[in-house]
Amino acid sequence: MHRSADAMNAVAPRTRDARTHGGLHDAELSALQLAPADVLDFSVSCNPYGPHPEVLRAIRDADATRYPDPHALPARRALGQALELDGARIALGNGACDLLWTLARQLVRPGERVVIAEPAFCEFRTAAERAGARIVCVRAEPDADFALDLPAALAVARASRARVLYLCTPSTPAGAALPARDLVTAAREHPALTFVVDQSFLALSERFSDAQVELPDGVIAVRSLTKEHAIPGVRVGYLLAAASQVRELDAHRPAWPVSAHAQAAVIATCRTGPFVAESRARLLEDRRRLAARLRELGLDPVPSTTCYLLARVGRAAELRARLLARHGILVRDCSSFGLPEHIRVGARPLADCERLLAALRQELES
Ligand SMILES: Cc1ncc(COP(=O)(O)O)c(C=O)c1O
Repeated sequence: MHRSADAMNAVAPRTRDARTHGGLHDAELSALQLAPADVLDFSVSCNPYGPHPEVLRAIRDADATRYPDPHALPARRALGQALELDGARIALGNGACDLLWTLARQLVRPGERVVIAEPAFCEFRTAAERAGARIVCVRAEPDADFALDLPAALAVARASRARVLYLCTPSTPAGAALPARDLVTAAREHPALTFVVDQSFLALSERFSDAQVELPDGVIAVRSLTKEHAIPGVRVGYLLAAASQVRELDAHRPAWPVSAHAQAAVIATCRTGPFVAESRARLLEDRRRLAARLRELGLDPVPSTTCYLLARVGRAAELRARLLARHGILVRDCSSFGLPEHIRVGARPLADCERLLAALRQELES
């Protein structure tokens, strides 16, 4: 990460497409005359072994004819039991993304500095900008395999008198991660700083046991059910924070923020036993195999703790377009992360990876 005063004070410029995300877009598919089912999607890194049938059944059976519980109490209780936490410390949202926006509305005052450890998922930064924050970026370096440098981020936060620090661990697009214990120590040493920690990929990462680490009040952990349960269409995520913070959060969002289907999904995910752990084991093995095969192609994927790999390929946007148009394969072009020569690919079962590798071999050689 940059440590210089210049870098600290720069309100980092953003490219116009900074809010690009992975996933399928109807306009692009229509132009290529592709249906969603024609596309093998490596761009979003959801669990390819899900969803669990119980979760799908619960979503299908949810009652759309009544308002859902406005405080999502049964779902928070179930999740609290599963996480061995008081449900009052849990807020559910319309995806982790919704919670990041709500937090920005709650935490950020116009003109204040917010430190963002980049490259990272872009939504908290976008929301903080809309709330009037002055963004101060610290960027992980390719030469250091995009390792998250917490001491550098804290130094920037102190120097810029920021009250909020956002970081993604595991990070996206690189998959670097910080031990949760380091965050606990940092939060104790910086009581005036609120740490918004995006752990959306934690459950599918080698650091999954960090989910058990008790976090102090200054740390808000944001998690997604989209990834490990493969339900991006449902839109459901949660955060863990002090109970007072959770109560205050509701003042910054509309009533009924979590649909009946999302609440039913949460309750059902708590009954899926070893499903996430088994998926993680398979996916981390898929990732190891994919990394080895990418190296055989002459690529050099960045070491990752989680279920996706970042690799430098040259012109990423062009490669993405060719893979989609010619092979029906979607990868994440990382230009929006300021990495126009990198793509990110999610781990998938062997047969899917063989298709990706064959397409990549063809396109990289042409
Ligand atoms: C790091 C990170 N956080 C949050 C999200 C959004 O998750 P959700 O689908 O729960 O809004 C994503 C989605 O790609 C992500 O990569």
